[in-house]
Amino acid sequence: MFAELPQQPADTLLSLIKLHNADERDAKIDLGVGVYRNENGQTPVFGAVKLAEQRLVDTQSSKSYLGPEGDVQFVASIATLALADAVSHERLAGLQTPGGTGALRLALELYVNNAPDGTIWVGTPTWPVHMSMLLSLGAKVSCFDYYDIASQQRIPGANLQAIAKAKRGDLILLHGCCHNPTGCNPDLAEWQAMATACETAGVIPLVDLAYHGLGEGLDEDAAGVRLMAKQLPEMLFAYSCDKNFGLYRDRVGAVFALCQNVDDSERVKSNFAVLARNNWSMPPDHGGAVVSAILRDQELRENWQSELQAMQERLVRLRLQLAAYGKVGSVDLRHLAQQTGMFAMLPLTPDAIVRLREKHAVYMVGNGRINVAGLLEQDVDRFVSALDDVSRA
Ligand code: LMR
Repeated sequence: MFAELPQQPADTLLSLIKLHNADERDAKIDLGVGVYRNENGQTPVFGAVKLAEQRLVDTQSSKSYLGPEGDVQFVASIATLALADAVSHERLAGLQTPGGTGALRLALELYVNNAPDGTIWVGTPTWPVHMSMLLSLGAKVSCFDYYDIASQQRIPGANLQAIAKAKRGDLILLHGCCHNPTGCNPDLAEWQAMATACETAGVIPLVDLAYHGLGEGLDEDAAGVRLMAKQLPEMLFAYSCDKNFGLYRDRVGAVFALCQNVDDSERVKSNFAVLARNNWSMPPDHGGAVVSAILRDQELRENWQSELQAMQERLVRLRLQLAAYGKVGSVDLRHLAQQTGMFAMLPLTPDAIVRLREKHAVYMVGNGRINVAGLLEQDVDRFVSALDDVSRA
C-alpha cells in the first residue's frame, strides 16, 4: 500500500529553513519563516517565560491528564487578553489547542461538519496552511483578491464585497492583525463595516489572531476582533501564543466560539472537546501553564509586556528604516511604513527571488513575502542593494 502513496510536495516555508541552514555563506539573510528575531538575529526565550518556567518546575506536583479542554485558567486568561470586556465571557466556548494551527483546525472542522453547504470565503494571498487545511477538510472555498501585488496595497473593501456576496451561514476567514503575508490590515472603520455587514448577512467570521501585540500594541491589535465580538451573535476565533510569547515549539493556542447564550456555549464546548479528543486527545500543557502563570502574575505580566513591546518597536523601526529607501527597482519600500507586523509582500518575480537567494544569500518565500524581523539593522543596506540588483535586471 505504501508504494502507491503519492510523494507530497515539501512545505514551502519549512523547506526554506532547510535551504538556509545548508547555505555555508557567512553573510546570509533569512527573511523566510515567520519567527521573530532580535537585533542579534536570535529568537531568545522571553525572560518572563524563563521565570514562569522556573516557578512551574518548583511548584508543579503532577503531570497527570488535564482533559481535551486543556488548562481552563489558561483559556480564561487568553479570552481576557484577546477580548478584554468586549463581551460576557459566559457566551464563550473556549478550549486550549496545540498552537494556533490546532485552533484553526478545530474551528474549521466544527464549521465544515455542521454547515456542509456553507462556503468559506478566503481573501488571498493568505497563510498557505489556511488553504491546505481547507482542502484537507473538503471545505467549499471561495477565494477573492485581498491584495494587489503590483501596487503593493490592500484592495479596499475586498472583505466587505465578499461578505456582500456570501449567503446566510457562510464563513469568512479574517486575519485579526499583522496580515500574513501582506502586513496590510483593515482599519477600524472597515472592521466596523465588516461587523455590520456580517450581522446583516448572517455571515460568521473566523478571526485568526496569531500575532497579537506585534503590530501596534495589545489593545490596538485586538480592536477588530473586539469590535466584532461586541456586535455579532456568533463568531469564531483562533489564538496563537507562538510569536507573542515566543513559545513556538511548545505549541500554545486556544480556539473560541462566541455564542448567543450560555446553553449554546456549553454545547459548542462539548463539540470542541470531542473534536480535540479525536485529533490529539489533549493539548500539551507546558506552554499553556507558562502563559497562564505570566498573565496571572502582575510582575511577570509587566515583564512580558515590555519584552513584547520591544519586539513591536523593533519591527516598526525596521519598517521605517526600509521605507526611507523609497523606490528600489520595482519595489516601493515606502509601503512598509504603513503596514504592521512581521510580514510584507514585495512585487518580485520568482526569478528575482531565486537570484536573491543564489547570488546574494537572501532567503525569502517564493511569493515575495519577507519577514522583516529577519533583518539585522546593519544588513538593511546590503539587503536593499540586493533588491535593487535583482528587481532591475
Ligand atoms: C509563517 O507564516 O512563516 C509562520 O506562521 C510559521 C508557519 O508555521 O508557517
